[in-house]
Amino acid sequence: MATTSVKVEAPGSAKAGTVVFEIYRYEPEKDAEPRVDEFEVNLADCGPMVLDALIHIKESMDGSLTFRRSCREGVCGSCAMNIDGTNTLACIKATEDCRGSRVKVYPLPHQEVVKDLVPDLTHFYAQYASLEPWLKSDTLPASGREHLQSKEDRSALDGHYECIMCACCSTSCPSYWWNSDRFLGPAALLAAHRWILDSRDETQGERLDQLEDAFRLYRCHTIMNCANACPKGLNPAAAIADIKKRLVMRQL
Ligand code: SF4
Ligand code: SF4
Ligand code: FES
Repeated sequence: MATTSVKVEAPGSAKAGTVVFEIYRYEPEKDAEPRVDEFEVNLADCGPMVLDALIHIKESMDGSLTFRRSCREGVCGSCAMNIDGTNTLACIKATEDCRGSRVKVYPLPHQEVVKDLVPDLTHFYAQYASLEPWLKSDTLPASGREHLQSKEDRSALDGHYECIMCACCSTSCPSYWWNSDRFLGPAALLAAHRWILDSRDETQGERLDQLEDAFRLYRCHTIMNCANACPKGLNPAAAIADIKKRLVMRQL
């Protein structure tokens, strides 16, 4: 992959107080192949997070640099990318926590690239939608209003509802890299588990039936990359293990 120095005075080095960002650039409709552009940023000129540096680069060095972002506080999942070799959210990754004065910024791995740091997550979201991630119940609540839950039943959803569908986990999973056409991946399976656990949902059996498949579920080999990658501290691998256990238990 070619490297282009855009704003670096001495490629290979960075002055004190500056960081060189090595950023993946690719516009499939125009570029024959991807390249890496280097931008030297004085950290005094921008906020502390990698997303602040990207915004600074876009506003003052190269307006064509393309990335997603919205909330800037780790709740929308838009700014997920690979920084310094790890999938994470650019808005909550401090530049000073990166290793050294050169920081590699790439799109989430093993996804088609729309442009630069923007991956095509169409398939990822379609997999999520295939789970029918909404409450399914034919029984009307006695009150005629909300389906109520005890505090205990509600707490069973902790560790699930916090998922922001950023895709950091699925795109760090080797099984998902090679089989994403059929393996649902950790993000979708965490969501599936959330609905299986929900005391108000009346379709747990059907939801388990849908997952009982050599590829959709069982391509997970408990490598645990997903739990390590999740910027919200969630553990999809544990959720997947519980789904597998439930499938075994219901046959006893
Ligand atoms: S535990 Fe399963 S889902 Fe998570 S990274 Fe490993 S193979 Fe992928
Ligand atoms: S489980 Fe974590 S890494 Fe995976 S999509 Fe949800 S928030 Fe992102
Ligand atoms: S901009 Fe929303 S999570 Fe980073």
